[in-house]
Amino acid sequence: MTDNKTIIRFENVTKKYDNDTVLNGVSFEIERGKFYTLLGPSGCGKTTILRLIAGFIEPSEGTISFNGKIINDVPADKRQVNTVFQDYALFPHLNVFENIAFGLRIKKMKNAAIAEKVMEALRFVNLNGYENREISEMSGGQRQRVAIARAIVNEPEILLLDEPLSALDLKLRTEMQYELRELQRRLGITFIFVTHDQEEALAMSDEIFVLNQGEIQQSGTPTDIYDEPINRFVADFIGESNIVPGRMIQDFQAEFAGKRFECVDQGFSPNEPVEIMIRPEDLEITSTELGDLLIKVDSQLFRGVHYEISGYDEAGNEWLVHSTKKAIVGESIGLRFDPEAIHVMRFGETEEEFDRRLEAYAGHEPDSSVPTPTVGGARND
Ligand SMILES: Nc1ncnc2c1ncn2[C@@H]1O[C@H](COP(=O)(O)OP(=O)(O)OP(=O)(O)O)[C@@H](O)[C@H]1O
Ligand SMILES: [Mg+2]
Repeated sequence: MTDNKTIIRFENVTKKYDNDTVLNGVSFEIERGKFYTLLGPSGCGKTTILRLIAGFIEPSEGTISFNGKIINDVPADKRQVNTVFQDYALFPHLNVFENIAFGLRIKKMKNAAIAEKVMEALRFVNLNGYENREISEMSGGQRQRVAIARAIVNEPEILLLDEPLSALDLKLRTEMQYELRELQRRLGITFIFVTHDQEEALAMSDEIFVLNQGEIQQSGTPTDIYDEPINRFVADFIGESNIVPGRMIQDFQAEFAGKRFECVDQGFSPNEPVEIMIRPEDLEITSTELGDLLIKVDSQLFRGVHYEISGYDEAGNEWLVHSTKKAIVGESIGLRFDPEAIHVMRFGETEEEFDRRLEAYAGHEPDSSVPTPTVGGARND
């Protein structure tokens, strides 16, 4: 059921071009007034989702609802949605004022009202005084702000932003990240932002959808996704991680690197092969006697705040460690970690499959002697 917080809802949306499936049964909900990010590698379907929301293309299967009404057939110009394109798509022959006024002129708004709205939009993006400039006289960051002003002047309920920062240099990009986030808070409208930069997604979003090959792998807050990645793809794509093969002996007991460890995961078949993920910052360097694992240090880099140490255990797995302690290349060290640092992932499992497995497992007898653990190594919510 769609409640009144939900502004956009995708139900089993598939998009095909001839026989090429570029989105495969995607379902999600977007709540009003939040900052969402679609994150994923090139070609995974991010722009396709934006185009479906904007109404530039129609789904091959499934439904898209806006405020509880199905809008599959509603044309783009009848939707309360505006898009900021990656290349901004500004009109080079119009000045800043006329670029922003464009949509309002199409709506046949009166000149005085247009001027008022354009000036307000310019103030919003900190470009007051620039209204008579030509687009060719504006910097990349300023053009980007003109593109945003042109979109918000129409007072959309949703603003779609397709990699709007990718053309900017690092410093300007970081500044614009703050500005965009601030702007979203001030306007209170829903932003759907596309990027393939994981740090940008973590820094800006209320909620992130991680996509790969036309499917949502996982959705959640930045901390959910960083702390509890659902599979190797998400763990690899977001942050640095150690991923080694292992198996679940039974609930709360995993085996990897030739040893058994207590963990907080359950819901796997006995002896099921799994992937074990531990973040480099969750590994603590200790003596060889006290270590849960032993590694022979292979390389060490000083990264400012921490050392980045890598080495191999006896089973031949490589481990990356972030530590403020130094190690010596060629020597053996012990690594210690908590049961909570171990994340158990089923091969290639997506969030939907995880949820289904969790539901099936909930019907199963719970073991009340153990404190509420995470099932299957995913989210703690
Ligand atoms: N009109 C089209 N006809 C055929 N295939 C298309 C069409 N538009 C997009 N595709 C394909 O759909 C897939 C997803 O494209 P999409 O533009 O959504 O990717 P993206 O995630 O935005 O990638 P990028 O980060 O490179 O912009 C790609 O494989 C692309 O080639
Ligand atoms: Mg794209």
